[in-house]
Amino acid sequence: MALYSEKVMDHFKNPRNVGSIENADGVGQVGNAKCGDIMKMYLKIEDDTIVDVKFETFGCGSAIASSSMATELIMGKKLSDALALTNKAVVEALDGLPTHKIHCSVLAEEAIKSAVQDYYDKNGIEYDPELFKKGPSCEDHD
Ligand code: FES
Repeated sequence: MALYSEKVMDHFKNPRNVGSIENADGVGQVGNAKCGDIMKMYLKIEDDTIVDVKFETFGCGSAIASSSMATELIMGKKLSDALALTNKAVVEALDGLPTHKIHCSVLAEEAIKSAVQDYYDKNGIEYDPELFKKGPSCEDHD
C-alpha cells in the first residue's frame, strides 16, 4: 500500500486556501516543538461564521495536506464547529496519515483554535479557556 493516500497527495500537490487574509478577524500561529515547523491560520468571520480561511506553513507535506483539508472542513462553518474539529477528523478526511506523521495534523487543529481564540480576545468575547487547552502534545507522537 502506498505510504500516502491519494487525498493526501492531492492536497499536498494542490493545496486549497493557501495564503494570507488582509485584515483577518483572527490569526493563529503555532509551532511544532518536535520538528520546528510553523503553521499560520487566518480567519474572516461574519455572524459567528467562517466566511474565509487561509493558511501559510513552513511545514512538511503532511502539514500542508492537513491544513488544506482542515480549511475545507471549516469554511462556511460556525465557530463552534471549527473549534470542535479534531486532528483525528482531519486525518480521517485525508483517508489516513502514517503514524509518524499524525503530529503534523495537530498543527492544523491548533492553528485554527489559536485563530478563533485571537478573534475572541480582540472582540472581548468571553469563552471557556478549557476550549483552548492544548490536547496531547505533538511531542507525544513520533
Ligand atoms: Fe513538522 Fe510534519 S509538521 S514534520
